[in-house]
Amino acid sequence: MPRKISRREFVRTSTAAGVAVGASTTVFAKAPAIQTNTIKPVVVASNNGNVYKNGGAEVGVQKAFNLITKGGDVLDALIAGVNLCELDPADTSVGYGGLPNADGIVQLDSCCMHGPTRRAGGVASIEGVRTPSLVAKAVLEVTDHHLLVGKGAQEFARNMGLKVEDDLNTDKSRALWLEWKRRIDPEHYLDPKKRGQAMEMASLSMVRDGLIDPDHYYGTINCDGVNSKGEVCGVTTTSGLAWKIPGRVGDSPILGAGLYVDGDVGAAGSTGRGEANLYNLCSFLIVEQMRMGKSPKDAGMEALRRIQKNTVEKRLLNPRGLPNFGINFYIVNKKGEYAGVSMYAANYAVCTENGPQTLPCEPLHPGRASE
Ligand code: GLY
Repeated sequence: MPRKISRREFVRTSTAAGVAVGASTTVFAKAPAIQTNTIKPVVVASNNGNVYKNGGAEVGVQKAFNLITKGGDVLDALIAGVNLCELDPADTSVGYGGLPNADGIVQLDSCCMHGPTRRAGGVASIEGVRTPSLVAKAVLEVTDHHLLVGKGAQEFARNMGLKVEDDLNTDKSRALWLEWKRRIDPEHYLDPKKRGQAMEMASLSMVRDGLIDPDHYYGTINCDGVNSKGEVCGVTTTSGLAWKIPGRVGDSPILGAGLYVDGDVGAAGSTGRGEANLYNLCSFLIVEQMRMGKSPKDAGMEALRRIQKNTVEKRLLNPRGLPNFGINFYIVNKKGEYAGVSMYAANYAVCTENGPQTLPCEPLHPGRASE
């Protein structure tokens, strides 16, 4: 169990620098979406877990893996890994420099779960704190609650000694928001239906023009891991849907949706269209499927099929009658077996004793979401 810590100690450990050094490798070769180990430690994450280093030497999954194999608490290690993405302004899907809401304000969501102690903490719509995962961890550590939101979450973070800033935009995220404002109907408040369409068109045209990484429209990093003792934890952190209605909360901070961990079974988390995940509570579903004996890959495919079955609104279907959005799940069980699964082709990040790798997810459907 993570021991209780004082506020001062919390801030000190949260800002400690990392240690191990190693070069990341990116492997796009054909690779299995699931591998079996005998409790060999492993960390899985969304693709950005093997991309961003925040100016350091390690990517997120590598940092987490190295801390785990040095005997660190699994959740502390995973959070240190995702902190790299939260702090790196180049990742516009998470933390500092995350794409803002429709009003140009960066609002962040995060949650974490600690398998061995069955504890969890989360924050939603928090502004001004670069590392919402650390606030989520503080909720887990020092409160009797799970989820703090908005101003309350920000005040809690301040009381925990975390720095609260006026604005988490970078020049890049602000410029992209201004470009979005330019592309959306200049009158802005049309009737809700037309406004929704205009938002979709403006956002998709920015993806098509290469201004927004398609993975950063819904944003997010999820990171899950297991150590050699079979202790499983997970964390998810995000700036959420780009240009969202202020106050919109996605799946990321919601237990059972953006993340679920059962210390006896394993962990699952997601990136992609949060609303589809919330309607189906897929991380919980995946962990329950694994409890009933399914492999991480098969459990994940079941969740994707559930999302497809429950996606019936025409506006959410592509010409093939399939979901017109991407959604991915990253899964690890207590035995160290893992998988990445996706509605359409996507990659995920893994770190094992072989170092960090980027592997293809197992897709439910060929082609792209829009086709
Ligand atoms: N999956 C991230 C979001 O929808 O906010």
